Amino acid sequence: MRDLAQDLLDWYDVHARDMPWRVPPADRKTGVLPDPYAVWLSEVMLQQTTVAAVRAYHAKFMGLWPTIADLAAAEDADVMAAWAGLGYYARARNLLKCARAIVADHGGDFPQTNDALLSLPGIGPYTAAAVSSIAFDQPSVVVDGNVERVMARLHDVHDPLPASKPKLTALAAALTPQTRSGDYAQAVMDLGATICSPRNPTCALCPLRLRCAARAAGTAAELPKKTPKKKTPTRFGIAYVVRRTDGAWLLETRPENGLLGGMLGFPTTDWSDTPDPAPPVDTDWQTLNTIAKHTFTHFHLELTIQTSTTDVAPTRGHFVLAADFDPTALPTAMRKVYATLRHD
Ligand code: ADE
Repeated sequence: MRDLAQDLLDWYDVHARDMPWRVPPADRKTGVLPDPYAVWLSEVMLQQTTVAAVRAYHAKFMGLWPTIADLAAAEDADVMAAWAGLGYYARARNLLKCARAIVADHGGDFPQTNDALLSLPGIGPYTAAAVSSIAFDQPSVVVDGNVERVMARLHDVHDPLPASKPKLTALAAALTPQTRSGDYAQAVMDLGATICSPRNPTCALCPLRLRCAARAAGTAAELPKKTPKKKTPTRFGIAYVVRRTDGAWLLETRPENGLLGGMLGFPTTDWSDTPDPAPPVDTDWQTLNTIAKHTFTHFHLELTIQTSTTDVAPTRGHFVLAADFDPTALPTAMRKVYATLRHD
């Protein structure tokens, strides 16, 4: 019987999605491999984010910092500002840590094996596997949500995620080929993103349809099963929007460890059931009658907005001149606060 991986690779030869950081399969067959820096950047950005959203950010980063040495030498604040809107800001902080470690400890050359990549700061099992296979054709086992779904369906696995992860990873490992490993990894992900999609999979077009146990059982659309999540709680807070009389904005860099860590934004209270008021300036406040709402992974946030114009020195944060204030550098939650303001 023909290899299942071979069927998938034949499909990929024709249907590979075009992405700026990829080398198409015809060129890879002649020995051309992609720029590991571009691949790594794409894989970090693609975690929790769609290809459509990543394209523009990837182009922006490659334009601003064309090599890993450029990125390693960048100012933290510039990188955080360029990442604004992509979410999961720990990814951007880790990106910088990793770039600096590659320059400091590896002469600016990406390590090529899964294990060597894993030892870098901010590179976990997924990124190490994806970069070693896509950029260096190592036979690493790449498992993301797409791969889990394809494996659950191929083998008609009904145990729910996340408990079934080790089983799905073992199934993925059994299929990973020793050659064309990078194309294979991208092929499974492309199949999961296009044909073997979460809802309404188009099994009729699938190169694996004759070997798919879920297709045979009629269960493809209901897999993978997931253990139900707890209901998402709501937390509350106050965002303080302070303008100086010259129009400057009071902004504060959030602590590295918390949510939106390292990002610039309006000073806020803590985010909780019962936030303690913590104004950054001793002044009179106006409360707006709109609320900024934003959903993070584990909770909804509702920010009440208080505004003031004052020249009193703040106890935290720093003023940014109106001409230097770039709202596009704010994380999305803060963009929503900004959007509630009248701009006249
Ligand atoms: N999602 C994350 N990484 C991907 C890749 N390399 N190809 C397709 N989809 C992906």
